[in-house]
Amino acid sequence: PRSPWGRFDPYDSPEDQDKEYVGFATLPNQVHRKTVKKGFTFTLIVAGESGLGKSTLINSLFLTDLYKDRKVPNAEERISRTVAIIKHTIGIEEKGVKLRLTIIDTPGFGDAFGILVAFELNSWRHIEDYIDQQFEQYFRDESGLNRRNIQDNRVHCCLYFISPFGHGLRPLDVDCMRALHEKVNIIPVLAKADSLTPAEVCRKKMKIREEIKQFGINIYQFPECDSDEDEDFKTQEQILKNSIPFAVIGSNVQVESKGRKFRGRVYPWGVVEVENPAHSDFLLLRNMLVRTHMQDLKDVTREIHYENYRAQCIQNMTRMVVLERKRSLREKYRDVSEADFPLPLAVADTEKERLIYEKDEELRKMQEVLERIQEQMQHSHRGGC
Ligand code: GTP
Repeated sequence: PRSPWGRFDPYDSPEDQDKEYVGFATLPNQVHRKTVKKGFTFTLIVAGESGLGKSTLINSLFLTDLYKDRKVPNAEERISRTVAIIKHTIGIEEKGVKLRLTIIDTPGFGDAFGILVAFELNSWRHIEDYIDQQFEQYFRDESGLNRRNIQDNRVHCCLYFISPFGHGLRPLDVDCMRALHEKVNIIPVLAKADSLTPAEVCRKKMKIREEIKQFGINIYQFPECDSDEDEDFKTQEQILKNSIPFAVIGSNVQVESKGRKFRGRVYPWGVVEVENPAHSDFLLLRNMLVRTHMQDLKDVTREIHYENYRAQCIQNMTRMVVLERKRSLREKYRDVSEADFPLPLAVADTEKERLIYEKDEELRKMQEVLERIQEQMQHSHRGGC
């Protein structure tokens, strides 16, 4: 029979039978049970130029048809041009573990007016605003009276699509990624990899990695491996690092070939399999997103991106409060009449100045204390990461 202690049964191994146990070895079990019961959430956003296959890829990634509500019989035609931010939320369950997955599909750059005018209009602004709004909502909720059951809609990851047809990054890609990199974990992907030869994929990846470094773009960093980590894990992490940007292929249809059914694309010269590692990094990306790094993406969002947003908010609020206090005090003491100071005029003036000076000092000290608190918060937060 299964032990009530679960996987971490302290009385499992015979050599441990003689040892005395308090029982805290079961803590991981308790955490596991509680988190499974609560369920998990994950939010992913896609960004990039129009027509690079964003909607198609997210449909392929989670083995679901996000666009099934569109009453078009042919799955291939169901995905049309995305013209507004669309939020899809799906509940997935696997072996009793529930995941509420939110996918934010965004209009490709240039869609707002049907032409590529993104350079002038900063068309990534709607993505930036969306991410900020989710942080703002969360900040408001957690500062409110009822902090129970807060819905966390913060964006944990942004798949940024890079065109396979350019020579590396376009200026628009650089500007967009730089506008977003402090707010969200960016994972760059090389779109429509089936239009490139393996050698071209390799060259483009190298060029893009160089440019990401050159332009100071902070993409999501895989966590450093501990020295005691097993070799397989270390190798897998190195493969992931070397695969950036992930070369992906998307398809909305099942293809049948040589007696097998799979998601793929049929061309006159052959069939491309979305999940074949020889054809694309699709599997690598999906495993990384779902199996190995989902929690880290969430942790980085919470500990770095959201904390930065929060610290900025508190700083702005403090500054506003102090400015407002200063302004009202100045107003108040400017209107103090002589009657309030039944002293000779010269003394009254000095008295007024003294009072204003005192209040200013008080405010200056208050501001200093608040700034110190903020610094400590940021310092301890960085140390904690
Ligand atoms: P917007 O909604 O305009 O932003 O476009 P999108 O980036 O969401 O692209 P979408 O998924 O709508 O795909 C555009 C076209 O590219 C469709 O005809 C897809 O069938 C095709 N497509 C999608 N993925 C791939 C791919 O991996 N390779 C190739 N060759 N074509 C693809």
